[in-house]
Amino acid sequence: MMTNISDTYPRPVDTPSDERLGCIFSGIQPSGGLHLGNYLGAVRHWVSLQDCARRIFYCLVDCHAITVSQERLREQTLSMAAALLACGIDAERSVLFVQSSNPHHTELGWMLSCVARMGWLSRMTQFKEKAGKDREQASVGLYAYPVLMAADILLYGATHVPVGDDQKQHLELTRDIAQRFNKSYGEDIFSVPEPLIFSSGARVMSLRDGSVKMSKSESSPMGRIDLTDGLDAIASKIRKAKTDSAVLPSKEAGLEGRAEAKNLVGIYAALRGVGIAEVLESVGGMSFAKFKDVLIGVLEEVMVPKGEEMRRLCGDKNYLIEVLRKGRERARALSEERMKKVREAMGFLEVG
Ligand code: TYM
Repeated sequence: MMTNISDTYPRPVDTPSDERLGCIFSGIQPSGGLHLGNYLGAVRHWVSLQDCARRIFYCLVDCHAITVSQERLREQTLSMAAALLACGIDAERSVLFVQSSNPHHTELGWMLSCVARMGWLSRMTQFKEKAGKDREQASVGLYAYPVLMAADILLYGATHVPVGDDQKQHLELTRDIAQRFNKSYGEDIFSVPEPLIFSSGARVMSLRDGSVKMSKSESSPMGRIDLTDGLDAIASKIRKAKTDSAVLPSKEAGLEGRAEAKNLVGIYAALRGVGIAEVLESVGGMSFAKFKDVLIGVLEEVMVPKGEEMRRLCGDKNYLIEVLRKGRERARALSEERMKKVREAMGFLEVG
């Protein structure tokens, strides 16, 4: 079942602990910089969820990143850690760590790949999109990607997984794998996690083409706002963003069939933390040139200080390494117990 708690979210900080979400897990690939889609679809929710959950894990999924070739993985992993901290991830309240630093992920990934079915994986639309026309040349890792993702989540007994809309199918697969595993090896081994997909910001589209999502892999940086962008870069990207020739509508129905307008209004609403209808009430009838100035203003307010903080943190490599080292220790200690259970259930010989 898909949970959409956007109506009641964010919960107040003083929510009694028994009403809190159980265990949160989510991940981000250090395959490039953090962009506005990552922030609005996932990371800003990760920050707020720190007040609502009992146990929280945020993972830099470098093993996922290498399913396509990477040239600056080490550097990108550190700067992604800096980006998350700059956005408000608190490494005391949340376990912030690098996937490859806990080998339980790949160990469990292999075990789960013996439970997942080829048919399940061949339905994954993200693989089809990323592999493109020449599927024979895609890495085996790219195909098995969602199984490793299931391992990430199930390893820590996550009950809720906050992600953008594009990860929905992977989460459904994770649930299938957990259920199949429990059926074969023991009912109580894995919790079956719920995706948390918030309606606001769940699918931020490219600034150049409202029909494709904003992504790290889009070849032109003009389609996305990166956290590293200063005000000048942001202003130039927004001013050049594709729009249509009409003015902004005053009702949501007026955005139908206008993908680029819908995207810019959605970005503005998510950054301000208000609904689309409320935004349109105040900007209906406005020209895009004027609306873009308003949007640049809110991006300056919300994103630019985070970018500056990220640059500052990137200058303190020792601090970043120490945060990730502590995260690794906490993550490993917490996954060991479940791995023991899994090895035993699957019948592996324990040799001491
Ligand atoms: P990744 O690195 O592509 O993206 C990280 C998060 O950002 C969200 N996101 C978006 N949200 C809205 N609009 C966009 N244009 C946009 N682009 C990205 C993603 O939905 C994601 O939540 N497979 C995952 C990483 C992963 C993971 C996991 C996630 C690996 N293991 C376990 C959750 C749990 C991914 O590629 O994210």
